[in-house]
Amino acid sequence: MCSKIESETDIGKVDGDKVYTQNDDLQSGLAYIDVKEYDYDPIKLFKSWFEEAKGSDLVMPNAACLATASRDGQQVTARHLLLRKLDNDNGFIIMTDKRSKKCKHLAENPNVSMAFLWNYKKDGEIISRQVRIDGIAEELDKSDYIELYEDQPLYCKVRAHLCHQGKVIDNWNELKLKHDILYNNFVEEGKVLEMPDHFVAYKVHPKMIEFYGTTEYEIADRAMFLLQEDSSWLWKRIAA
Ligand SMILES: Cc1cc2nc3c(=O)[nH]c(=O)nc-3n(C[C@H](O)[C@H](O)[C@H](O)COP(=O)(O)O)c2cc1C
Repeated sequence: MCSKIESETDIGKVDGDKVYTQNDDLQSGLAYIDVKEYDYDPIKLFKSWFEEAKGSDLVMPNAACLATASRDGQQVTARHLLLRKLDNDNGFIIMTDKRSKKCKHLAENPNVSMAFLWNYKKDGEIISRQVRIDGIAEELDKSDYIELYEDQPLYCKVRAHLCHQGKVIDNWNELKLKHDILYNNFVEEGKVLEMPDHFVAYKVHPKMIEFYGTTEYEIADRAMFLLQEDSSWLWKRIAA
């Protein structure tokens, strides 16, 4: 997050590796993550940043990119999904369709990597933050997340019944017809859309959490926390 170039015509001066824009004031600074303020606890820091992001004008601060890989690591794929809950034991809960590609990966290889990106303005200043979480995804028991399913808006419940995630759709009109039947059954006949068996939730248990934070003209600071065998966190400041 250094040079801010809106378009090629903005480029004013190129000097070796440095690219300045005409609009820049040639400012620079060094961001600082005050880890002590959060008692050296990455979960406290995560919650603080997350709360701030939720209080900003970001539409989906709970959206995160989740990367999974096949057992042999030959297939790696990433997609965004929503963090549904941060559990009391520091697990990051996500929900999905058990028949999906990601779940095939998770069945073979529970190692995952998640990344949140929060870019917003606070008091006129641009804040750019990223949190990376590497860990192990554990499939939860239905009883652990039925409430999360129940809390979902209607269209999400309809989707859970209608869509076989990742399956080819041969006939969109047929799908629309099925959609309307499900919807009408719910709205007009009061049929309950119970949680289907393929609706699944995982808890990502973090082993590594890394924070990257900066403002518009600052060089980012990074703080990396590694989970130790005694469940404490070892942290290091690392270069941007
Ligand atoms: C903002 C956003 C939020 C999403 N949230 C979820 C989610 O919570 N669960 C989910 O299964 N897919 C979610 N998706 C869809 C996924 O990105 C992806 O298309 C889907 O899970 C299939 O991925 P897979 O084929 O790799 O398994 C979301 C997509 C976007 C853009």
